[in-house]
Amino acid sequence: MSALKITGGYKLKGELSISGAKNAILPILAAALINSGISIIENSPHLADVEIMLDILISIGCKASLKNNTITIDSSEISSTELPGDLVQKMRASIVIMGALLGRFGEVKISYPGGCEIGLRPIDLHLKAFKQMGAEIHEIVHGYITCKANKLMGSEISLDYPSVGATENIMLAACFAEGVTTITNAAKEPEIEDLQEFLRKLGVRIKGAGSSTITIYGLNKRKGNISTQTNTFKKEICHKVIPDRIVAGTYLLAGAITGGTLTLTNVNPAHLSSVIYKLRDTTTEILIKNNSIKLKAPAHLKNIELVRTLPYPGFPTDMQPQLISMLSVAEGTSIIVETVFENRYRHVDQLIRMGAEILINDRTAVIKGVKRLSGADLTAHDLRGGAALVLAGLCADGETIINGIEYIDRGYESIENQLSSLGAVINRIN
Ligand code: EPZ
Repeated sequence: MSALKITGGYKLKGELSISGAKNAILPILAAALINSGISIIENSPHLADVEIMLDILISIGCKASLKNNTITIDSSEISSTELPGDLVQKMRASIVIMGALLGRFGEVKISYPGGCEIGLRPIDLHLKAFKQMGAEIHEIVHGYITCKANKLMGSEISLDYPSVGATENIMLAACFAEGVTTITNAAKEPEIEDLQEFLRKLGVRIKGAGSSTITIYGLNKRKGNISTQTNTFKKEICHKVIPDRIVAGTYLLAGAITGGTLTLTNVNPAHLSSVIYKLRDTTTEILIKNNSIKLKAPAHLKNIELVRTLPYPGFPTDMQPQLISMLSVAEGTSIIVETVFENRYRHVDQLIRMGAEILINDRTAVIKGVKRLSGADLTAHDLRGGAALVLAGLCADGETIINGIEYIDRGYESIENQLSSLGAVINRIN
């Protein structure tokens, strides 16, 4: 298995263009199943998770290709509504395919996506909404769950929690429902807005994404089925996904933790306002232009008294591990409360191996800044935790080896090349 080798102590400098958003393109790839025409999706990042999603689509009959950051999908001929268990287990985000298949074909069979490294990740909100729309959910048999719906009915769905995946799944199923579906307490992430834009290009009447109430006017036509392949949306559409706000935030924190000066381009600063706000608390200078962000780190980062991770537009949970790394070398004590996932501090024991002083009590982390971290042999246990270890290695004394980088490759496009281009000393080793 390959690993990353980092020699710390180099300030990052220069300019980096940010790739398309993993968490935007994954639901949009699922939404392409709604289209029985051709979907062209631009600004796709080259990530392991994108490849898994394409493999899943191909396994049920889609023709799909990724070339020069552009994905072309022909989902006119779908041959199955059963998703391959091994691929679904690899990437739980594939759960959002359920809504598209249930809507278009009235059935879907999927391996129950287990929890992952950061928590149990239940799908009760997804299934409760499908039931409310008229689907029959058959018990889990041999790890598979089957949903069937002769007809989906537009419904008023109020989410107990603004779940990103549940919001996306309901949006996709509602496209085919008879009548109007409203989702209240919907997730407001920018990736939900991007999905709405894609659906609108398909001809779906939908509004409200980015707010807590989304309205979808479903098609009254009968849905197609596998044998007749009669479909309800057939267009050739082209969509460019939004920039990845978490990748951008990660590189901003890499600049801050190394005392560097860097500019990110092809970003949407508005998607990072909570991250920028907290970065400024550490006396890091941030200059915002239309689609670029310029960062100048202070000689010494100041602590942040309290950060709570929250659904968008609050501070993103996907930036929490990286923030802990940065605050572990800030002056003073910082407190972070992880309100979204129950098991998202698995990177902390690795930071402690580097000399960080961090106490964890349930969902609260108390970080007492130290002057320097020291390089060590580390193991990544999840995607963002792995990115956090990279940031720590960039500022540590000496050499850091990070194993388990297959996690990091799920969400960061050749992280070593991106960081090397900014002056970091980092290599992929076998
Ligand atoms: C999406 O996951 C993202 N993944 C995650 O990013 C992100 O951390 C998360 O949203 C929160 O912002 C993708 O978009 C592919 P949720 P998702 O449903 O949809 C609970 C990354 O690093 N919940 O909003 O799975 C759940 O347990 C990944 O890029 C239920 O209880 O997140 C969690 O505590 C990690 N029942 C909370 O809601 C449900 O039916 C948030 O989950 C669904 C969710």
